[in-house]
Amino acid sequence: MSLIELKNVNKSYKGLTLFEELNMKFEKGKIYGIIGHNGSGKSVLFKMICGFIEPDNGEIIIDSNYRFKNSKFPNDFGIIIDKPGYIGNKTGLENLKLLAQIQNKITDQDIKSSMEKVGLQPNATQKMKNYSLGMKQKIAICQAFMENQEVLILDEPFNALDIDSVQTVRKLLLDFKKEGKTIILTSHNNEDIEALCDEVFRIRNYKLEDVK
Ligand SMILES: Nc1ncnc2c1ncn2[C@@H]1O[C@H](COP(=O)(O)OP(=O)(O)OP(=O)(O)O)[C@@H](O)[C@H]1O
Ligand SMILES: [Mg+2]
Repeated sequence: MSLIELKNVNKSYKGLTLFEELNMKFEKGKIYGIIGHNGSGKSVLFKMICGFIEPDNGEIIIDSNYRFKNSKFPNDFGIIIDKPGYIGNKTGLENLKLLAQIQNKITDQDIKSSMEKVGLQPNATQKMKNYSLGMKQKIAICQAFMENQEVLILDEPFNALDIDSVQTVRKLLLDFKKEGKTIILTSHNNEDIEALCDEVFRIRNYKLEDVK
């Protein structure tokens, strides 16, 4: 069984067609790149995969090993979609600790080492409202992978990162793949896509067209 399967998915907003009879299978252990113009539907696709929004028609089937019991919602997914919410007058570490409390399966030390992996200083006392754009993005990346999630759904993970940080995060994602994790990402930077993805699909004619 595929990790994620989309069957005859249709999605439109107020007369704007995004997907029509979309069929697609994502297999475990690969890095997939989804590319397409602004407004072509990448973020909408990711939201549908994560169960945040429903397709108008069709089905999105997640392997039962990656679902909460008797639920269609994915489990063990690390997700970045749109701007993540955070509490401005708490530090990055405090924000991540709050998120980690939901599942309560990692230690403070795990969180700190995740932060260090992306070049953040866990013990800095700066509040998140004073973080730079790239630092906020790094917190978003941390929340997606800090609990050792098996599947990463990353909508523009490299946004606002400096050149060295891009390299660091690319290496991190390639290491995750070696561990057997599955990653689906978008990027407007072709180099990210080239460097990382086993398979690349472009949104075209309301479907996903195989380009690699
Ligand atoms: N809740 C909504 N209500 C109405 N229209 C929406 C809604 N969500 C998304 N859309 C529309 O769907 C289209 C696709 O949006 P989406 O955010 O998926 O684009 P994208 O491919 O991620 O673009 P970008 O590259 O700029 O991030 C856009 O025209 C957007 O306005
Ligand atoms: Mg988008």
